[in-house]
Amino acid sequence: MTYYYHLGTVPPKRHTQFRQPDGSLYHEELMGLRGFTGIQSLLYHLHPPTQVEKIRLEQTVMLEFEEMGPLRHWHLRTGKALSQGDAIGARIPLMANADVCISVAHPTEPMSYWYRFAHGDEVIFVHQGSGFLETQYGILPYRAGDYLVIPTGVMWRMVPDMNVAQRLLIIEAQGHVEPPARYLNRYGQLLEHAPYSERDLRPPEHLLTHDESGEFEVRVKARNRITTYIYLHHPLDVVGWDGYLYPYAFNIADFEPITGRIHQPPPVHQTFEAPGFVICSFVPRLFDYHPLAIPAPYNHSNVDSDEVLYYVEGNFMSRKGIEPASITVHPNGIPHGPHPGM
Ligand SMILES: [Fe+2]
Repeated sequence: MTYYYHLGTVPPKRHTQFRQPDGSLYHEELMGLRGFTGIQSLLYHLHPPTQVEKIRLEQTVMLEFEEMGPLRHWHLRTGKALSQGDAIGARIPLMANADVCISVAHPTEPMSYWYRFAHGDEVIFVHQGSGFLETQYGILPYRAGDYLVIPTGVMWRMVPDMNVAQRLLIIEAQGHVEPPARYLNRYGQLLEHAPYSERDLRPPEHLLTHDESGEFEVRVKARNRITTYIYLHHPLDVVGWDGYLYPYAFNIADFEPITGRIHQPPPVHQTFEAPGFVICSFVPRLFDYHPLAIPAPYNHSNVDSDEVLYYVEGNFMSRKGIEPASITVHPNGIPHGPHPGM
């Protein structure tokens, strides 16, 4: 993320002696992006984060693609898809390219292990459900409408509230997910015309430091495989951290829509950007209010990008036959527009 935050206890000066009550050193770890030139955080562990007991290949992950057939629009009713298991095992990958993979999941149980995605950042959109994300940066409670932005390498597990159904949309990037650059000033602060501000972003609420021995499993997804690492200490043993890199939540209800007298294009809805794609939030808003405005999108041909729409709730002004959790896919190369009559 783009601003400084800290939880727990850190020494007054980085890279200096920071001692546990028994006199031994805490174990400092720098977690950073772009080879020491991107955002980073310093974490202080009870145990060395490098102390791995066993390594085993859990599974290879190769997506198989269906034969696409003719170039056309698609409507997927993912509300009818049901899956079970934990937040990773329940994932159903629906579409992917070199930049992004989009899945849905309906987790029915907490994860019994921790997970990190090592190729890029993940965004989990919580369509329905609540619970908390347990990370080495602290506990991040989530609720419906949250985008959970989890930077590369952050270790987490999802613990859903089992008394409410969980419906997640997962966007796995092959790079870093950030606020649109045009909304940031040269210091990295969100500008006044941005549709959200730092106050809308929720970092982990509190840090839980586990000092436990046993066998703890961490699964790392990278290079088309999931590798399991067994640690003999609890992986969430951080007593304090500070920096700019940490997972956070942003609720879609806090996205302030940008409206116009005439129809505004999708970039006004942009929420995040990542290499090769953007994420937009189409929220309830005052529709185009010029006396002669046509409050629906004009036909458009995005000749070099695909549009994937996930429908959350409410009336969808431009399409018929859509239900919550529908996905429509509008590939590049052919024009699309509102359904006739809408
Ligand atoms: Fe479109």
